Amino acid sequence: MEIFVHDTAFMIAYYRAQQSDLSEDPYAQLWLRPGLHKWSQQFAAKVSEHDELLHCLRNRFFYTELKTLWPEEEKVLFLNMGAGFSMYPYLLSEKIQTIELDFEEIALYKNEKTREFTSKNLLPKRSVEHWNVDITNPKNQAVLLQKLEAYRDYKKVVLIEGVFFFLTEAEINSVLSFCADLLDPKDILMCVSFDESQKETAVFKRLIDYFAEVLQSTSNPFSTLPHSYYEQLNGFNLKKQGSSFELGRNLEVIPSHIKTTEVLNEHFYILERT
Ligand SMILES: C[S@@+](CC[C@H](N)C(=O)[O-])C[C@H]1O[C@@H](n2cnc3c(N)ncnc32)[C@H](O)[C@@H]1O
Repeated sequence: MEIFVHDTAFMIAYYRAQQSDLSEDPYAQLWLRPGLHKWSQQFAAKVSEHDELLHCLRNRFFYTELKTLWPEEEKVLFLNMGAGFSMYPYLLSEKIQTIELDFEEIALYKNEKTREFTSKNLLPKRSVEHWNVDITNPKNQAVLLQKLEAYRDYKKVVLIEGVFFFLTEAEINSVLSFCADLLDPKDILMCVSFDESQKETAVFKRLIDYFAEVLQSTSNPFSTLPHSYYEQLNGFNLKKQGSSFELGRNLEVIPSHIKTTEVLNEHFYILERT
């Protein structure tokens, strides 16, 4: 399953690169590799033709939120859990310290390639570290908590984007309780998940079939969460919520005949540590 999850990170970068004006990620094209175009065509035919658009909107949503956060603060730590190939730090203020967490394979590869891209001036210089951390592993969480003591006086923002779908509800609970330990009052947590109602849609059923048939993955939990999960989350206040579909409608890039139930619509949650 690890390899598969890693592959999805490339696929998402591919999506963002196809419409970089919309995704606002000009650096996604650095991760393009052969085979992704064919894969995206197959996914469009078998599951949904709107996934590229929605993933671009997801990036735009979080980039907009991140760039408006704490412009006056000198010490900000951006912790991206399950960062894949997202490229926010290179578009954000150079004052921000970023730590990206992912499995070893992605962390090592991204570290090597971003150094190379920076040395060739394809990326601006930023303070970004890539750590090999399984965010669901209690031992890894304990080590991380210790290491992050060095950032005690920093304002912190945690982003967990495109990950919960791959975790069980018990794992999600563990990650979010760990985030509550890690963050101080007024720090920010940003999460993404499918709403429970998505489970009933034909497009979600096609997605599950696709995992089984094409990716040979039947063990994925396909987790969804109700909005009330975030409203009642211990240690946090829900400050804002949105979705890729809603943003697409506001920007008038989703044709009016498309209904929310016809797409894989991810919901976005911005929470503040109490
Ligand atoms: C679908 S990709 C999303 C990547 C990125 N957040 C984005 O939106 O472009 C999921 C990422 O989460 C990582 N991931 C999944 N489970 C993880 C775990 N338990 N610990 C750390 N990273 C994890 C995967 O390796 C992969 O890079």
